[in-house]
Amino acid sequence: MATILAFLLLFTALVTLSLLWFSTKEKPFKALPGNRGWPLAGETLSFLKPYSANSLGVYMKNHISRYGKIFSSNLLGREAIVSADAELNRFVLNRDGKQFKTAWFAAAQKIFGRESIAFATGKTHMKFRSIIADFLSTKRLQTVFLEDADHLASVLTKSWRDGDVISAKQESFKYCIKLMAKSTLSIKEEDDPQMQMLQRDYSHFLSAIFSLPLNIPGMKYWNALQVYINTYLLFNKVRRKVVNMVKKTMGERMIDSSCRKKVFYEAGDEYNYDLLEMLMERKEYSNEEIEDFMLGMIFAGHDSTSRAIAFMLYLLANSPSAVITALQEEHLKIINSRSDKKQQKLSWDDYKSMKFSRCVIKETLRLSSVAPFIPKVATEDVRYKEMIIPRGSLVIVHMRAVQLDPFAFHNPMNFNPWRWLDACCDDEKRKRSYMPFGGGTRMCPGENLAQLEMVVLLHHIIINYEWEMAESAAPDQPIYLPYLDFPRGLHIKIKALHLFDRK
Ligand code: HEM
Repeated sequence: MATILAFLLLFTALVTLSLLWFSTKEKPFKALPGNRGWPLAGETLSFLKPYSANSLGVYMKNHISRYGKIFSSNLLGREAIVSADAELNRFVLNRDGKQFKTAWFAAAQKIFGRESIAFATGKTHMKFRSIIADFLSTKRLQTVFLEDADHLASVLTKSWRDGDVISAKQESFKYCIKLMAKSTLSIKEEDDPQMQMLQRDYSHFLSAIFSLPLNIPGMKYWNALQVYINTYLLFNKVRRKVVNMVKKTMGERMIDSSCRKKVFYEAGDEYNYDLLEMLMERKEYSNEEIEDFMLGMIFAGHDSTSRAIAFMLYLLANSPSAVITALQEEHLKIINSRSDKKQQKLSWDDYKSMKFSRCVIKETLRLSSVAPFIPKVATEDVRYKEMIIPRGSLVIVHMRAVQLDPFAFHNPMNFNPWRWLDACCDDEKRKRSYMPFGGGTRMCPGENLAQLEMVVLLHHIIINYEWEMAESAAPDQPIYLPYLDFPRGLHIKIKALHLFDRK
């Protein structure tokens, strides 16, 4: 009997051990469910296929429902894992620079330049981050950025007339690029040729980065070559012009020894100096570093924010009237509480009091996913739970899929700013799933500035206008190409309001 018992015990122990062994052994990531698509091309074309902003896109929707939130694929010529999982996304973003790096499209380095922050790693990256921290410090947000955004938003909205049809894409682009022109290079005047050049040429930048499909296997060689040549010529011209402009300004400032920052200090305006001045003053950057850094910052500083603003105007044009009423109440309260009604400038306290507006911005950023995904590459074999992500494989950190996850956000496609006001049991899940600015070491340093720009422009619009989509029979739809865009410019028809005396 004892022998049988001992045998049974031994047998059970062996079975348990082998079960444990098999369940803890790492699964090669190829064992993940998924689809490799066509030979060479993989699933790249269906992954990048444009889709409307009121959906998650056919590719992601079908794959998530078939394979779950983490699945394997073959994208951009590499073995890939696509993650619609908040935890894996954070895991990857938090290890950028250690076990992962951004997988830029082939031509991005030529556009941004070798010395740009996008490609900087280690100490160089930290050095760039520290200057951005100074440039976007809270003190500067509270003073110079608030004042400039307020001024630009006021000028922009006063240029509109009752009944005008305006392009939301174009108007928000003008507002954001002007703020960047002023804060990076002190270009202020509308008719300054440099301002006009920035406005004209930066509008092509993003499409240049994504429209180089040479590295998409399966595309017809001659078509690809044609697109490549055209785009290369375009972005090369833009890059050269912006770099020359920075070079010229640097040269002028070097010759003019009266340090501009000192002049500002003497005027008692210690935060009002520009990014170029900050870089030159540190004397630790090469000219090439300064040029590439400026080019990248002007781009990063206006592009995403202006797209998010256009998307906000689109959402508000289609939102229930209760949202507009709540916004109007919040903003009129600020104006009516001023003892001096002629005082039109926004203060930091005003900005802080715009709680519902900040919920509108959060909800806009959740739904717009200006950066819908970030492609990262594993720089070594990485263990994640029971899975090994092999060196060289691509991980698509899909932020949009997480932000539209019905387990984290009830009715995820609904524009519901109030969801950010109620503290509820889902708080933690919601917080973990909201990541429009990325995460980890490369998390967007412009988060606070972007939100400030959005709220300030919203203030000026909401107190002065109502709007609706123009061409109501066939209104423009935002789409992902895979970046967020408005192919026809997102035209809206505005109607002037007379809620208070503006004089
Ligand atoms: C709604 C507006 C914005 C969105 C949604 C956004 C989103 C992002 C995201 C997702 C990243 C991370 C990229 C990665 O992990 O590889 C990023 C990086 C970056 N953003 Fe933004 N951004 C916005 C506005 C701004 C503004 C206003 C600025 C500057 C004034 C800015 C400057 C940068 C820079 C310099 C980086 C690179 C950081 C690094 O590599 O360390 N962004 N942004």
